[in-house]
Parts: sequence; structure tokens; C-alpha cells
Amino acid sequence: MDISAKHQDLTSILCNMLVIGVFEDDKTLTPSQKKLDSSVGGLISDYLIKKEGFKAKFADSEIVPTYLKIPSDKIMLVGLGKKREFDCTKLTELCAKIAKQLDKALNVKNICLELLGLHCGNFDANKCAQAMSEGILLSLYDFDKYKNKKSTPQIKKVRIALDNPKDEKAAKAGVSNAKIICSAMDFTKDLINEPAQSATPETISEIAKNLATELNLSIKVYNKKQLENMNFNTFLAVAQGSEREPKFIHLVYKPAKKARKKIVLIGKGITFDSGGLDIKPANSMLTMKTDMSGCATVLGIIQTIAALKPDVEVHALSALCENMPSGTSYKQGDIITAKNGKTIEVDNTDAEGRLTLADVLTYADELEADEVIDIATLTGACIVALGQNITGIMGNNPEQIKRIIEKGKECGEALWELPIFDDMQEMLKSDVADMRNTGSRFAGASVAGRFLQNFTKCKNWVHLDIAGTAFIDKPYKELNKGATGVLIRTLTNYIMSI
Ligand code: BES
Ligand code: MN
Ligand code: ZN
Repeated sequence: MDISAKHQDLTSILCNMLVIGVFEDDKTLTPSQKKLDSSVGGLISDYLIKKEGFKAKFADSEIVPTYLKIPSDKIMLVGLGKKREFDCTKLTELCAKIAKQLDKALNVKNICLELLGLHCGNFDANKCAQAMSEGILLSLYDFDKYKNKKSTPQIKKVRIALDNPKDEKAAKAGVSNAKIICSAMDFTKDLINEPAQSATPETISEIAKNLATELNLSIKVYNKKQLENMNFNTFLAVAQGSEREPKFIHLVYKPAKKARKKIVLIGKGITFDSGGLDIKPANSMLTMKTDMSGCATVLGIIQTIAALKPDVEVHALSALCENMPSGTSYKQGDIITAKNGKTIEVDNTDAEGRLTLADVLTYADELEADEVIDIATLTGACIVALGQNITGIMGNNPEQIKRIIEKGKECGEALWELPIFDDMQEMLKSDVADMRNTGSRFAGASVAGRFLQNFTKCKNWVHLDIAGTAFIDKPYKELNKGATGVLIRTLTNYIMSI
């Protein structure tokens, strides 16, 4: 789909549908809307506003005929809701709803939207154009690779029309940012939606290599033998039940200038989580191809970073393997010495994510980064606590956590802090090793976080639990059901702001 922004007069735009917005609590038309209104003989104000046929509640819509008085076939009036409730995240949600609605309507190949939201406060053209484009691009995502009948969107061309020629540069930049973000999100969603039969440690590491070539990043992929020499023992213990060889990938984006900061991103990369010998019930296993969402997310973020080019060095790490039951599986009661020397008694083979992350966190220490951020579909307990639309965030630096939550808010991704208390280590106590890999039934997400903390020396470490948010079974705002690409927006904005 071709999407762009341009200074254009609403009365002269040739398209199938011209979209304009009105607030619920202030239906005064803007100067350019007034001009449009008079060129269609006052139809907009007469028919829809004066007679109060159109309430303009959030995402309400009404189609107005133009009787060919202007080049556009039709006008769509959309409700922006209440002025004080409106912001860029609402704008994204709104545009997603409009795009979906229009895509299903008859013959709407070419749409044009006025730059919405600009006339309602302190938003700038850049942010509004980006928010609108993200909504449209995200709403039309569908994983139809394996369907004979494809769901190709009928919308082919989208124009965002600007009143003010001065806004053009900023709006174009906003559209371009949205394209970068959404194409990374599409990549990530595709990889998460891909079944475990084809998204394997091997194929994902090949994808990462191709990305590196394409984006001029450096990459190293380690195989089992190399990992044995590197003492990735807890990771290899999880991997040993599978017939597929584990891989560890390390991608690096280096800025042209001297980097101001160094950030390490770590993504959990279990390509299928059967639970291992602590096998999951069939129902819980159904979506376990998504247990590499953390990996797919860091691969998405490295793409936005390579395109946006901040003066920040960014590393993306992921240990990829399957968690399978077999004659070679790691077992309950096994004692593993992690890369950092600490010993772990395996209490539950289904708590595999934290084991694979442990060695990667230790590896990350060697990079001496300013910040380490891990992203993982780590616990069902996080879903119980926060549901499918809020990501759990925890770590050892409250300021850093606050800043990431704030960035999430700005782009409509909700994060909520869960506590990690030092004395939670008690729950991980083992009779035979330094710790075990699970606690009791209680505070599962926090205890998993406490476990991870044993393996990092970084003072600015954040753990993001996306077990609920990476893959949703009901559509939510601009997101369709299935993989979401959550945190790509938040963390891209975060890295761009440090
Ligand atoms: N991959 C799962 C967590 C998960 C559950 C992600 C549901 C997405 C949806 C993780 O490896 C796991 O199995 N965690 C266990 C930990 C428990 C054994 C301490 C869990 O949450 O049940
Ligand atoms: Mn598991
Ligand atoms: Zn898992």
C-alpha cells in the first residue's frame, strides 16, 4: 500500500473517499472543512451537524454523498470523540478502525484523510501523521501466508492531506517513521505467527543473518559446540531434549559516530515450548510456537534502529532452542551450573525460559552495556496478573522503568510495574543447589524476575514479560488478533530518546 502526506486542498482531491473529523463536544468546522462544506452545497453542516444526525462520538462515521461537486466520490465524516480525551494513541486507534471499515466497503481503493487531530491542541503534524499512518498500516495486517485465499487489502493508496504547506516536511517524516515501525512490526508478527515446524533455531538464525547483510549489521551465530565452550550450560540443558540444534545469535548495530550509549536487548527464543518432561496440557501448548516472541521482537527493534540510526550502540541477543520431552531431555532434579558459576536445581522443566535467559544475561555482562533489557514470554502468572493488553515490567532501576513506561504510554502500549523484592530469593531456595528454577504458586512473574536478577551484574536491567501481550486472542485497538509486535514501538521510541 502506498501511503504519503501532502499539502492539498480538500476540494480538489481526486479519491474514492475523503475522510474528515469532527469532535463530539465541538462540531465547529475548521476553515478548510468549511470550504469543503460550501463546495458540496453545505451538505456537511446542514445534513449532519445542524440536524444533529451525527453525534461524532469516538469512531462514529457517516458517509456523505458529494454528487460529483468535488473530485472525491464520497466524504466520510468521522467522530473524534471528546476533545480532552483525544491524543495520538486515540488517533492511531481511530485510523485503524476507519481503514478496516473502508477496506470492507465498496470500491474504496484510493482514500484521502485530512490530517486529523491537529486542530485540537498541542499536537504537531509529525506526531499526528505518524499516529494516523501507524493505525492504517497496522489494521490491515493479516497472516495469510498459508491460505490459498489471500486477504489482499483493497485500499491501495492513502493520502494524508495537509492544510498548511509548512507542515509538509514534518508530516512526511511522520509517515516515514510509521512505515519503518510498521514494517518491523509486520516482520515480527510474521515470525511469531509462523509455525514451529518452520520457525526453528536454524531458520531464525538464517533470517537474522540475512537481516544483518541487508542492514549492514554485524552478526555472530554460535552453534552447540561453540556454546559448550562458552559454558552456556543452562541454555544447553533446556535444548538437550530436542533433535534440533540450538543457536545463539548476536547482532550489533553500531552508529557511524561514536556511540553515546550501549544498550543490550535480549529476547527469549524458545521456538516451541512443550513444557519438556513437565509436559503442558494440550490446551496450553496450542500457542507455544509463540514462545520466541522476545527473539522476534528484538529482531524487529534492530531493524527500526538500523533505519533510524541513533548514536546508540544496540546489541540484539537471543538463545534459540526447543523445549521438548525425550530420552535426552533435562530432568527434574538435575543440577546445572550456569555460565556465571551459580548452581540451579531443576524443579520444573517448564520454567525453561529463565534458564535460557540466565546464560545470555551473563554473556551480556561481558559487553559492559549501559542498559540491559530482556523481553520474554516468561510466565502465565503475568497473564493472570495483567491480562493480554498490559506488559509486565520489572528491574533494578526504578527511574529506567518509569521512563520505559512513559514511552509506552506515548505510543499506546501499556506497561505496569511488578515488584521484585530481594527476599523473594527465599522462594527459590534449594536443598541441594544455590537455587531452584521455580518458587511456589505465588507471585510467579516477580519470582521469575528475581531468578533472572541472579545472572546480571548490570545496574540498569529491565525485564519485560510479554507472555500476555505478544499474542492476543481478541483484537485490541489497532491490533488484530494473533501476534502483536508489542514493544517495538515502545522500545524504539525509548532508544531514540536516550
Ligand atoms: N512460555 C511459558 C509462559 C507462557 C504461558 C507464555 C502462556 C505465553 C502464554 C513459560 O515457559 C512457562 O511455561 N512458564 C511456567 C512457569 C512455571 C512452571 C513456574 C508457567 O507460567 O506456568
Ligand atoms: Mn515453559
Ligand atoms: Zn516458555
